[in-house]
Amino acid sequence: LSAQRSNEILQREAPAVWASLSDLGRRIHFPRDIPFQAAEARSVTYNGTIGQITDGRGQALRLEGLDLALAGLEPADRNTALLYSPMAGLPELRERWRQWQRRAAPVDRPSSLPIVTVGMTHGVSIAADLFGGLDKPVAVPEPFWGNYRQIFGTRGGARVLGAPLFRAGRFNAGVIEEALAGEPAGTPAVAVLNFPANPGGYAPSEGERAALLDSLRALAESRPLVVICDDAYEGLVHDPSVPKSSLFWDLNGLHDRLTPVKVDGATKEFLFFGGRVGFLTFAHEQASDVATALEDKVLGLTRTSVGSPVTATQVVLLAALRGGGAEREIAELRARMGRRHQVTMRALASVDPALMTPLPCNAGCFVLVELAAGLDADEVRRHLLAHEDTGVIAVRPNYLRLAFCSVASAEIPELVRRTERGVRELAPAVRVGVPAPAPSRLETES
Ligand SMILES: Cc1ncc(COP(=O)(O)O)c(C=O)c1O
Repeated sequence: LSAQRSNEILQREAPAVWASLSDLGRRIHFPRDIPFQAAEARSVTYNGTIGQITDGRGQALRLEGLDLALAGLEPADRNTALLYSPMAGLPELRERWRQWQRRAAPVDRPSSLPIVTVGMTHGVSIAADLFGGLDKPVAVPEPFWGNYRQIFGTRGGARVLGAPLFRAGRFNAGVIEEALAGEPAGTPAVAVLNFPANPGGYAPSEGERAALLDSLRALAESRPLVVICDDAYEGLVHDPSVPKSSLFWDLNGLHDRLTPVKVDGATKEFLFFGGRVGFLTFAHEQASDVATALEDKVLGLTRTSVGSPVTATQVVLLAALRGGGAEREIAELRARMGRRHQVTMRALASVDPALMTPLPCNAGCFVLVELAAGLDADEVRRHLLAHEDTGVIAVRPNYLRLAFCSVASAEIPELVRRTERGVRELAPAVRVGVPAPAPSRLETES
């Protein structure tokens, strides 16, 4: 599609999407250059299109070392792994990931064929390119993954606006409305929601989710709103009473002016951290005009930044999805993470609350603890490294993030004990009665 054609489709069929696009989002489209022309020529006999060195008939020429390293793959996949990926990803992988995403989704909610990205960071970055941009208000519950600020703010020039996810220990369902309160009605905005959350390890209960959805619906009454669901930790919920499904399905069809976007991937769900296979999905039926127009723009962004996605790891993920045992294995691993979560919360329950208190945590990989007023998170972090042989993440201004997902259950109590001891050593330096700095920026860097 030309940019003009994609834009006409969006203007006509999805005016809220059109209103939400950034300048770059409006300009970009997948050009009819080499990958496009090569894809069109895929089935011809004399294919002199793409710059791949092959056997002359489209098959890979294999260096022995590479070929041996890929020996566990089916012969056809071994060949695929060495060649360029289609720009949107391998068709079978896209189809199978769509089935994976939809295994617990209501059947009546449309979703596009997921587009492969180079990890979820790339997916968030593409969404930011499409819908962020200079001065765009981007609402994010605090505390949030610090990379959102780099992606939307530093890279894209958007205004990242935070509001607290918890107030007096309770879930703040109006968090996005609150973050956007100063924005004039009618102006498009973006919200980023990440449940289960990093760094906070929280997923909303059924009632909290309903209240959050009410608030987002009300917000869409007054402005076009893109809601990016960063589903990095989808399904990793440790409290059986809390819904596990992505908010994307609840947002899907909620309001004409609300555009949900789903970012997910194999990184955490399939524990394939180094694989760099992520996906970007829209709430439009696959192959519909709107899904096609949006895909065309995403492919333009991929083409101009990373070229094309990684084939070798797509093929590896595909093998896991075809195997059929992934769901059971993932459930077992989640149960194991659930046990680590339990041990962590038990250990934190006996920590001196005058030193540090955990924030609500029922999901994900991390727990966030709030340090006593006056303690500086990074100073505590450096102290723990130097004196307690212990590494945690400092979240400004006075939070520590403990990744219980990466510590054996047997060692978690010691991690907590050492953290508490380190905090206690620094605590006498805190002058009682001196107010803590205002918690303005709650971000984590990892
Ligand atoms: C909330 C969140 N989103 C996105 C990512 C990035 O995922 P990826 O490694 O696939 O780029 C992370 C990784 O830590 C994350 O915590």
